[in-house]
Amino acid sequence: MQVTGLTKRFGSVTAVKAATFSVPTPQMVGIIGRSGAGKSTLLRMINHLTPATEGRIVIDGRDVLSLRGRARHDWQRDCAMIFQQFNLVPRLDVLTNVMLGRLNRHGTVRSLLKMFSREDIARALRALERLGIAEQAMQRAEELSGGQQQRVAIARALTQDPRMILADEPIASLDPMSAQIVMSSLREIHERDGLTVICNLHTLDTARTYCDRVIGMRAGEIVFDGPASAVTTDVAREIYGADESFDEGVTSTSLDDVPRAEAEAYLRPVQASA
Ligand SMILES: Nc1ncnc2c1ncn2[C@@H]1O[C@H](COP(=O)(O)OP(=O)(O)OP(=O)(O)O)[C@@H](O)[C@H]1O
Ligand SMILES: [Mg+2]
Repeated sequence: MQVTGLTKRFGSVTAVKAATFSVPTPQMVGIIGRSGAGKSTLLRMINHLTPATEGRIVIDGRDVLSLRGRARHDWQRDCAMIFQQFNLVPRLDVLTNVMLGRLNRHGTVRSLLKMFSREDIARALRALERLGIAEQAMQRAEELSGGQQQRVAIARALTQDPRMILADEPIASLDPMSAQIVMSSLREIHERDGLTVICNLHTLDTARTYCDRVIGMRAGEIVFDGPASAVTTDVAREIYGADESFDEGVTSTSLDDVPRAEAEAYLRPVQASA
């Protein structure tokens, strides 16, 4: 996937400024940056949830931002989204929630007429099993813990048979243990299924633990793009800003294990504001 000059303006606010990067398949990418840096807007533009103001996203020679109608719908199915708040239907059982991932495949009318095939059910159950929550299949989504609900959301994304998973702060509402399970699940899916995973994360430690590559955003711009191992304290300050809001909590205690010059090779010059 090649992203070129991707820009989003909301009135006078430029949420994302000319983001340019490419992602080989498969890769696990963590996007970090402080609140308002443009992380969500970037993911939402990739998935067409938010229309881009400018720029191109090319995958297999197609400009996906110009897709309309059915083709656009297919693209949205190809990049499954996972959200901080899970976005499940709370009163529906877990299995049905997961099978809703198949709706995108069949088209709504066929699904409503035929409901779900045996194969859809089997597929949904396999996904739940893989995420370790098959026992909860018949419970209502709202009865599950946050961590379990996020695993249901991942199972739903998998049944969508996507080529990419876009996760917007998937662990921001979870306790540390659940967060670890959810991130390990995403990592396992990336490794075993060869899916690209792009994940907005608010802590650097998580990005360093689970991602191959880190993209750092600051005020709408990509200011760092390099291997997770190259994120030093200086780089973190560059991304998060060096003022009092730079919190050691977002970093780990052992950031400086890479030579500084090597790390700085991945820093990008910040452009003069447009
Ligand atoms: N629908 C919108 N209308 C107007 N401005 C918006 C809208 N969505 C986002 N913005 C603005 O765009 C900028 C980037 O927001 P975005 O939500 O992408 O940041 P973020 O990095 O995801 O932040 P957070 O870590 O808080 O989720 C912010 O200044 C935000 O106020
Ligand atoms: Mg966000």
